[in-house]
Amino acid sequence: MPVKHLLNIEQLTSAEIESIFHHASVLKKERGQPQSHLSGQTWALIFSKSSTRTRVSFEVGIRELGGNVMFLNSNDIQLGRGEPIKDTARVLGRMIHGAVIRTYAQQDVVDFATYSDIPTINALTDDEHPCQILTDIFTYQEKRGSIVGKVVTFVGDAACNVPISWIFAAAKLGFELRLAAPKKYQPDPALLKRAGGHVVCTEDLASAARGADLLYTDVWISMGKEAESAQRCHELASYQINEDLVKLANPDALVMHCLPAYRGKEITESTFEAHAKTIFDQAENRLHVQKGIIAWLMG
Ligand code: CP
Ligand code: NVA
Repeated sequence: MPVKHLLNIEQLTSAEIESIFHHASVLKKERGQPQSHLSGQTWALIFSKSSTRTRVSFEVGIRELGGNVMFLNSNDIQLGRGEPIKDTARVLGRMIHGAVIRTYAQQDVVDFATYSDIPTINALTDDEHPCQILTDIFTYQEKRGSIVGKVVTFVGDAACNVPISWIFAAAKLGFELRLAAPKKYQPDPALLKRAGGHVVCTEDLASAARGADLLYTDVWISMGKEAESAQRCHELASYQINEDLVKLANPDALVMHCLPAYRGKEITESTFEAHAKTIFDQAENRLHVQKGIIAWLMG
């Protein structure tokens, strides 16, 4: 059987997404019982960017599935001194059983998967954050039932990894996605065309929020964009989830944030705290859904 990878949402079918969710919900219920999906295996987390949730949830999840795990900061291995990813992949592929990679270029994750020939998971690149969006949809469905036909409104930098993964999910799962962002922070039209589905890009925040079932935001300054901080804060200033915006959404709308959250920027303190239960359930679900992803990869 060919080795399976999770490199992006774009490659997944809706049946595969359902299968991941099924594994996630079983593993969530069975948490605390010994699992043997990764028994005898050692996985590596290879990270070139900071992480709290992704790192901890994968380290805990891999151990809970019976495996061993090592964390490799890319600056501590020869990769950080210029060893090609395809050489790193061919070495690690002979020693470990799976890899979770957080980096800049999507191509690096693709190359690692190709050259290592071991299951490889994208833990965030500049292009996509598939583990996050699978978790977000799983969390929405736990709280509100099927996402099919619902309206999801993303507010902020709509051209970064998180909204791009939402774009690919929209077509596969049949919900409407509205992206509220200044023109400059809207996704590439070619990407929208490739994804298909019902996706609306607008600069009109109020119209995007009206009747939404889920209001969602991410940081204005993604990792790697720090040099643009001042400009981004200025240009994205009005693209914030606050109490006035929540009032425009459906009365039972959820508010989510992938975290980390910057109060006073993409979300206000009071709105964040009013929806903290949802947001931290969402954060906890990273653990369950990523265990589901690994179980699906092993299946
Ligand atoms: N949401 C998310 O991926 O968080 P970390 O950057 O802390 O892993
Ligand atoms: N778009 C953000 C997501 C952080 C989880 C970033 O890339 O930094």
